[in-house]
Amino acid sequence: MQIDVALVPAEASALEKGVLIVIDEIRASTTITTLLDLACRELVLAGSVPAARRLAAERGSLLAGERHALKPRGFDYDNSPTDLIRSMEIRGRSVVLCTTNGTAVLRRLRGASHVLVGCIRNATACADAAVRLAIADGRGIQVVCAGQRGRFVLDDAAAAGVVVERLAEATRRGGGVAELTDAAETAVRLRRSFPDLLTAMRESNGGRTLEHIGQAQDIAFCAEEDASATVPVLLAGDPMRIGILG
Ligand code: MLT
Repeated sequence: MQIDVALVPAEASALEKGVLIVIDEIRASTTITTLLDLACRELVLAGSVPAARRLAAERGSLLAGERHALKPRGFDYDNSPTDLIRSMEIRGRSVVLCTTNGTAVLRRLRGASHVLVGCIRNATACADAAVRLAIADGRGIQVVCAGQRGRFVLDDAAAAGVVVERLAEATRRGGGVAELTDAAETAVRLRRSFPDLLTAMRESNGGRTLEHIGQAQDIAFCAEEDASATVPVLLAGDPMRIGILG
């Protein structure tokens, strides 16, 4: 089983690889997983703030997301998973989400066979599901780091290292051989270069931004390993929606 990592989104190979796992660790992937854990009725991804407002008006949805990590005007929520948990109003609601990197990269990869959403919180569940799909598909797995406006970011790469470790374990458990590309090996070694994931997240640019805007509570939340068994998957159709992989 070939296991690769696109350390920047431009390296994503949507058509060659059978299964893609998109990681925007701080915070879109974590927020998407949390919204599904909170049992929202539907989760719609919008490509722009105006499109998000229009979709929410049409569907009577709650509006969540960010620009420069802050809540856009007229939105109900920013992109903070801990704020969403505190809100107590997500269950059974339609939610439209729009973020700078995570949702944009997911929209760009909509042509791929299987697009899962991964983060540290669902690492094992996501990896197990990806290996199951990839065995059936036969074209290997690529973890795609969402980055920051196309650039490399530490939080996504370290989280990719966690997911690659889980993918290798799941492949071996299934009797297969895990073939890591150099990029995948690099992500694993980056993750192991930190004493723990909380430190890696804190020392990332994303972590520093959260400290700066007074949302440091999201750092520890994002760094919690395997706190969720939910595997978000990109659904076909328009508007673009995320569902839970069965
Ligand atoms: C993004 O998608 O750009 C990030 O998740 C933004 C954030 O949460 O700050």
